[in-house]
Amino acid sequence: MLKLAVLVSGGGTNLQAIMDAIDSGRITNARIVTVISNNEGAYALKRAEAYGCEALLVSPKDYPCREAFNEALLAALNDRHIDLVVLAGYLVVVPPCVIRQYENRIINIHPSLIPSFCGTGCYGLHVHEKALERGVKISGATVHFVDEGTDTGPIIMQKAVAVRQGDTPDLLQRRIMEEAEWVILPETINLIANGRVHVDGRLVSIKD
Ligand code: GRF
Repeated sequence: MLKLAVLVSGGGTNLQAIMDAIDSGRITNARIVTVISNNEGAYALKRAEAYGCEALLVSPKDYPCREAFNEALLAALNDRHIDLVVLAGYLVVVPPCVIRQYENRIINIHPSLIPSFCGTGCYGLHVHEKALERGVKISGATVHFVDEGTDTGPIIMQKAVAVRQGDTPDLLQRRIMEEAEWVILPETINLIANGRVHVDGRLVSIKD
């Protein structure tokens, strides 16, 4: 049984999609051990409580320096023997010590088709603003492993979503969540939990 830690900063609709997928059997062989947030007010923590799993606050604000926060986050994962870390709208840079220890065991959902509209500063609504400014007709979402760069790790799964005339960043964000993020994040977790994801350098293959 794969032990998951889901890291969140905000509303937690992706977290909810994971919980629902576990409950409905679309994710097998995995359970959420803890939900960790840097943000005390994150609604995602409420979702975790309602679901009945641990809701843990690990905030940089509560530590004297960044190094102390980094170590606390790493310890929280290690203490719980986490197998897979899922970044589901986590707005904190994951510490290098965590990335090194959890190589190819951290995944992130990004709301565009990487390598478009990603990288430093490209998060949240900015992603969709940039996509609309550029006039793309298709956007979507990407699940990738996390390395020390920003949105540069091996790509596991992508799903395209049509941009419609008259879209606003909010409308596009919502459609990408509904049609892509809430689909491919649980699907990826299920594949990993069932041993079907193979990483070779920057290339990911899915076993039948
Ligand atoms: C999603 O758009 C996700 O792709 C991005 O942050 C947002 C999180 O939304 N990384 P939620 O907290 O899961 O509702």
